[in-house]
Amino acid sequence: MNTTRRIIVSSDHASIELRLQVCEYLMEQRFFVEDTGPKAAKKSDYPIQGFEAASRVASGEFDLGIVFCGTGQGIMMAANKVAGIRCGVCSDTYSARMLRRHNDANMLSLGARVVGFGLALDIVEAFLQSDFEGGRHIRRIRFLDEKLLG
Ligand code: RB5
Repeated sequence: MNTTRRIIVSSDHASIELRLQVCEYLMEQRFFVEDTGPKAAKKSDYPIQGFEAASRVASGEFDLGIVFCGTGQGIMMAANKVAGIRCGVCSDTYSARMLRRHNDANMLSLGARVVGFGLALDIVEAFLQSDFEGGRHIRRIRFLDEKLLG
């Protein structure tokens, strides 16, 4: 695994336990991890958490972001509001691989009420171990980033 990558992790209140478990795994794998999610189960809004984490990926401070909410959907939507962010929700490993290979995603979103810890780790691994294929996908990524935003 590439241990030089910097990963920002965040969540809302619905996904704290899974987020902490994934953070522990990432740190064991010696990634540089910053966890900006809530520590206690007090209400925490996914639009704010997702947008803040995505802004720090888009600025170049972090290479990748991994975010969580109940379904993974809301925080993914918030992240994708930031220019330059390509974030997808995954609940299977095939999608996680393709999210990197074809979409060059820089953020992954997981639903803590959808996937259990074991599957979440497999998805995270699949995402982190896959690389963008480039080629025909470059033009489409550029279209996403340059034509559809701004
Ligand atoms: C919180 O109850 C829930 O709505 C949130 O975690 C998320 O699933 C939204 O997309």
